[in-house]
Amino acid sequence: MAERIEVIGVGPDGRLATELPGDVSLVAGGARHLERFAPPGVATCVIGGDLDQVAGALDAAVGTAVVLASGDPGWFGIVRRLGRDLGADRLRVHPAPSSVAGAFAAIGLPWEDATVVSAHGRAPGAAIAAALVAPKVAVLTAPDRSPAWLAHTLLAAGCGPRTVVVASRLGHDDAVVQRTDLAGAVDLEVADPNVVLVLDEARLARIGAATVRGHGPVGLPWARDADAFEHRDGQVSKPEVRALALARLGAGPGRLLWDVGCGSGSVAVEAAGLGAGVIAVDRDADQVARTRANADRFGVGVGVVHGPAPAVLADLPDPDAVFVGGGGPDLAAVLDLVLARTRDRVVVALATLERAGPVLARFDAAGWDAGGELVQVQDLRPLADGHRLVPRNPVLLICGGRRP
Ligand SMILES: C[S@@+](CC[C@H](N)C(=O)[O-])C[C@H]1O[C@@H](n2cnc3c(N)ncnc32)[C@H](O)[C@@H]1O
Repeated sequence: MAERIEVIGVGPDGRLATELPGDVSLVAGGARHLERFAPPGVATCVIGGDLDQVAGALDAAVGTAVVLASGDPGWFGIVRRLGRDLGADRLRVHPAPSSVAGAFAAIGLPWEDATVVSAHGRAPGAAIAAALVAPKVAVLTAPDRSPAWLAHTLLAAGCGPRTVVVASRLGHDDAVVQRTDLAGAVDLEVADPNVVLVLDEARLARIGAATVRGHGPVGLPWARDADAFEHRDGQVSKPEVRALALARLGAGPGRLLWDVGCGSGSVAVEAAGLGAGVIAVDRDADQVARTRANADRFGVGVGVVHGPAPAVLADLPDPDAVFVGGGGPDLAAVLDLVLARTRDRVVVALATLERAGPVLARFDAAGWDAGGELVQVQDLRPLADGHRLVPRNPVLLICGGRRP
């Protein structure tokens, strides 16, 4: 049994974080790392698809084994798996700078304010959400989650202008750093491995250095008054309804939301302020423009797509949660699509009671649990030498969760 497993990072400058120990009996690593760094005559094990086999070989090695891994092996890397399978106390980890540090260094940008997200071997929603909402994002890619895939998905999601930097094969002789925009990245030829930076330069210039969070100014208020948003004919969700909807949707970092029938975009803007990636959809071009203006006003990134639901939803990435604020006559068809594609939560705001029964029936038929909540707010207003309560129009929220 290997007593010690030295996990050694290979930095974006191509250097090892530390020398290999003289008594190494087995070196595991990617083919390209083994080729360069495995000492002649020492047994090797290629880290490819089957990590069980690698863990087995490391476990069975004599004395000291070495694992070579890119960047910081404890940062979206192999340390999690090795610790689980072989025990953290057998590992000695030697981190090199991450590929993300290398990519930011290559373009001379600081990155303590960056959001870093992996699309490598994980569901892609969090990477898409981060790139939509945060102004400075690094995405660890994979062959099936390439820079072109990311750029294509962000364009389909109505993402605003972004600078895209793709750093490939850092530390190798054929390392390349390319700078383009979303449209340019769709056709970019890139070798693996690579890391992608997605930068909203206009927003970064406004935010300055004040934030350490990746997704915008810290401590934004939410449940703002309806009049804080540019809106038309009162088509803006009221603060208390919005607050409850955002809570039920679980709006927060790592979540990808759709706001269908976004109107003024107040739900989308506040969900983004809480860190969620949001795609706001409306069939009315003026409302789409209003949503963009409101996102801009509050300094948050929101994807905005113009077109009628459900048709326009077909090309969007699957959401974790959806707010349906305006389904109009197509509400049933919108719901059918939404319930089929959403991961866990759907909230529907209804102005008329008659729709509640059919909407609940649709949730049930699709295998979702749902219930209704009437949000009834009364404002305290001065009257003579006292106060009275003035009721606002109640709104019925139908909130559903996918059955486990
Ligand atoms: C499993 S993660 C490992 C991350 C690593 N622990 C780090 O600190 O960079 C694999 C991803 O890291 C990125 N990566 C690793 N090595 C790279 C390199 N030499 N050049 C560019 N990106 C690299 C790619 O996005 C790749 O898909």
